[in-house]
Amino acid sequence: MTKPKADWRNPGPAPTGGPLIDTFGRVGGDLRISVIDKCNLRCTYCMPAEGLPWLEKEELLTVDEIDRLARLFHSLGVRDFKITGGEPTVRRELPEIVARVCALEGVDVSITTNGLLLDRLARPLREAGLRRITVSCDSLMRHRYAEMTRRDAFDKVTAGLEAAREAGFDPIKINCVVIRGSNEDEAVDFARLAREGGYDVRFIEYMPLDAERTWEREKVVPAAETLAAVSAAYDLAPVVQDAPQPATSFRFADGAPGVLGFIPSVTKPFCDSCNRMRTTAEGAFRVCLFALEETDLRTALRSGADDAELERLVREALWHKWPGHKINHPDFVRPDRSMSMIGG
Ligand code: 5AD
Ligand code: SF4
Repeated sequence: MTKPKADWRNPGPAPTGGPLIDTFGRVGGDLRISVIDKCNLRCTYCMPAEGLPWLEKEELLTVDEIDRLARLFHSLGVRDFKITGGEPTVRRELPEIVARVCALEGVDVSITTNGLLLDRLARPLREAGLRRITVSCDSLMRHRYAEMTRRDAFDKVTAGLEAAREAGFDPIKINCVVIRGSNEDEAVDFARLAREGGYDVRFIEYMPLDAERTWEREKVVPAAETLAAVSAAYDLAPVVQDAPQPATSFRFADGAPGVLGFIPSVTKPFCDSCNRMRTTAEGAFRVCLFALEETDLRTALRSGADDAELERLVREALWHKWPGHKINHPDFVRPDRSMSMIGG
């Protein structure tokens, strides 16, 4: 697409039709829907030990409201949906929400979960139409997993991964946030897990989205460094990608199953080709993980806005999307929300 001639800081009115675009010509094609802010873990890079002030039940979007937004975005061309949290499996109505989103025509739906509750939810979620799943797991050592998540739940994750396999999820991705001085020595072990279990392991750089604000640049392990560590142990062959992707992906050159993805969110941001949008559990629309502004869709939903009005709000917000986050600039300002309050 050719770049629209508008300045994002002072863009004038948003287009009223056509694809959902910003002033840089990026098309919003991917919506991440957070269904709850609560979580049953307390990962140090995300939440404080005591948790956060959770939303009241009435503040959460209802299943019908989520469904309405999903249909709206679908009508605007969105085909990739991701269900996130907090921890989405903690929301009782999750299978119902998943079923509604999966019922939309031609959609690719996945979920990001910590996996703890998958032993009982994998099957119902699969039956609701979900095929793809991402399980977050940052250490393969029980003690370290407990240190990083503040819960001794490693066995539950293992059981959850098995349940996902048995229920027929494909692909099963594993997200691993790599943190200096914490789990950086496990990259090769995760690569072995990918080979042996046929998983798609994605190594993610640590981003300044932790609620306790203890992120430091020194704790970011560059994706290139993780790739070098894995390449020293295994011969890797690049996966050819037809469209720009956040992750650079590799297969094992010897033909073993499994995929490895390296996501340089901090050292090489993918903002230029970012097509992601997010709705938080309480219905705030965010056009960037690091956005400092958001659009309150819940008030519009609850005050009787019709679809045309919702569409106008969404188009207007995306039209104001900035070029990208400024983690690497001196004037970087952290958003007030931590990862669990945004959705991954
Ligand atoms: N930096 C990078 N990734 C993070 N996640 C949570 N907090 C951070 C952070 N500060 C990851 C989780 C999960 C996904 C939704 O985001 O591990 O896999
Ligand atoms: Fe929970 Fe995910 Fe945050 Fe960990 S990263 S505390 S699993 S929301």
